[in-house]
Amino acid sequence: MRIIFPFDPLEKNTADGPFRDEYELLKSMGIDCSLFDYDSLEFDELKPKPQVIDGDCVLYRGWMLTPSLYGKLASMVERKGGSMFTSPSSFVSSHHLPEWYESCVDFTPETVFSNAEEDLEKLASDLGWDSFFVKDYVKSNYNERGSIAKSPREVLEIVALIKEHRGEIEGGISLRKVEEYLPETEKRYFVVNGKAYSPDGVVPELVLDVSKAHHAPFYSIDVIQRSDGVLRLVELGDGQVSDKKTWSAGVFCKMIAENT
Ligand SMILES: Nc1ncnc2c1ncn2[C@@H]1O[C@H](COP(=O)(O)OP(=O)(O)OP(=O)(O)O)[C@@H](O)[C@H]1O
Ligand SMILES: [Mg+2]
Repeated sequence: MRIIFPFDPLEKNTADGPFRDEYELLKSMGIDCSLFDYDSLEFDELKPKPQVIDGDCVLYRGWMLTPSLYGKLASMVERKGGSMFTSPSSFVSSHHLPEWYESCVDFTPETVFSNAEEDLEKLASDLGWDSFFVKDYVKSNYNERGSIAKSPREVLEIVALIKEHRGEIEGGISLRKVEEYLPETEKRYFVVNGKAYSPDGVVPELVLDVSKAHHAPFYSIDVIQRSDGVLRLVELGDGQVSDKKTWSAGVFCKMIAENT
């Protein structure tokens, strides 16, 4: 296994931002780690140092990528004789909400999908819900307006804000039923090769259920407590681009090392 990290543009001999501690630690554990220029990916250039070599299984740890950019990364790795630990289709299967929704429908808020061009106001009003949690296929609305629409018209307002703040809608729009969650109860877990890992050693039943329902080599599971006490799945994410949240670099890297 070779782990490739985006380098820090100001300090090219180490990994960027939140990935630096993982890079240093994994390297010290004797795992092959390489650094590359993230910005050159979109120009079809991948020149990691040390280079990816024939037969390498490559794990990426870094900033979020669109499925198209991830596909480019995978092709460039293949041209060097390597292969991605997570294939492009597995990447999308954890990254885009509609891809994992069906297999996890019992654990997560009811959701309908639409491409961004569709008549969203009509779709929302046909649903007849009191409120809507609005996302694209990946992210919610980050600014203080938040992502909860109290009417079909407000759905349009939030979609416009997501477009404005993030530059584009990724994939399409997800309208999710609003559930009442207890603040500060969200936790992130990871699944690698089918095994669920926790930041504190305790893996809830829901996380085990999700790990049996969704199949991808490496992904994250965010769960939160609903006000009635039931644990709910908020979202899945591809593990390569998921923030560590409350995980220490030590516990995170031990999980990676166990699977290399
Ligand atoms: N259906 C819902 N009803 C009520 N609250 C929700 C719902 N979905 C998500 N939330 C709340 O909004 C937060 C952000 O949602 P979500 O994780 O889906 O979006 P995100 O953009 O990926 O956010 P982040 O990058 O912080 O993970 C969740 O942590 C949860 O507290
Ligand atoms: Mg989230």
